[in-house]
Amino acid sequence: MGSGIAQVVAASGRRVSLHDPFPGAVDRGVDAMRTSLERLAAKGGADPAETLARVQPVDDLVAADLLIEAIIEHAAAKEELFRRADAALPAEAILASNTSSIPITSLAAATRRPERVIGMHFFNPVPVLRLVEVIRAVQTSDETAEAIVWLARELGKEPAEARDFPGFVSNRILMPFINEAAYALLEGVAEAEAIDTIARLGFAHPLGPLALADLIGLDTCVAIMEVLHRGLGDPKYAPCPLLRRYVQAGRLGRKSGEGFYRY
Ligand code: CAA
Repeated sequence: MGSGIAQVVAASGRRVSLHDPFPGAVDRGVDAMRTSLERLAAKGGADPAETLARVQPVDDLVAADLLIEAIIEHAAAKEELFRRADAALPAEAILASNTSSIPITSLAAATRRPERVIGMHFFNPVPVLRLVEVIRAVQTSDETAEAIVWLARELGKEPAEARDFPGFVSNRILMPFINEAAYALLEGVAEAEAIDTIARLGFAHPLGPLALADLIGLDTCVAIMEVLHRGLGDPKYAPCPLLRRYVQAGRLGRKSGEGFYRY
């Protein structure tokens, strides 16, 4: 998602520094941006080279007005990154997280600028989907929330504000839907294709819940469900054993080549 976010920020005319310590990750991100920008250019969008010229790969965190974090859904890793960002970025910079479920309040508490920490949750594929869920930590100032709502609109997105409860709004609704679809498959109620056809044609969803889980990543789905389960304390949020088994087998969805479907 990081490359999708960098792309929409660069497309709005702003300069972006792109950082990922994993070898090859930034190159893959830039390739994904180029492919996406070419699709948009074919429909009258901006010249991909012009947008890409505003994207600068960097080896470490650099000074900026805003950082948008999009690393793995792992609370300790995110808190560590927020501590580093707090030290590396100017005191007035805003630190935002694209997390789908980690508490923004604990990320804010890891910094010395908790009032300038906020959730800015994009949706996959970022260049296409218009929603940005804006999540205020307990500590987030009105000024920070207003700046992020303004920026989301500048990026051509529609912001919707939520408070910092487990899974916010989006995943509190989406994950039980995906989980129930996994149970329907596990219990033999229907084949995967039939489950997804029912959601696509019956509810006019662009993708069925199992195909969508493959797009999000089954490991990410399980991680979010665990946050909901732990945070809300209700057994109805516990991940379906089938999802866990696929993750154990390395069947993570599109990114690993197989999830509920083969790619
Ligand atoms: N960049 C630019 N354009 C893209 C693109 C990308 N990455 N991906 C798709 N498009 C464009 C295509 O070019 C196409 O444009 P035209 O209609 O003008 O030809 C259009 O989007 C539709 O794409 P496709 O024809 O390839 O396929 P599709 O109709 O199935 O659409 C989809 C693809 C946009 C992904 C659509 O299936 C969709 O909206 N799916 C639902 C995705 C969703 O629910 N995402 C939320 C996931 S949850 C999340 O992200 C957050 C979380 O916390 C878990």
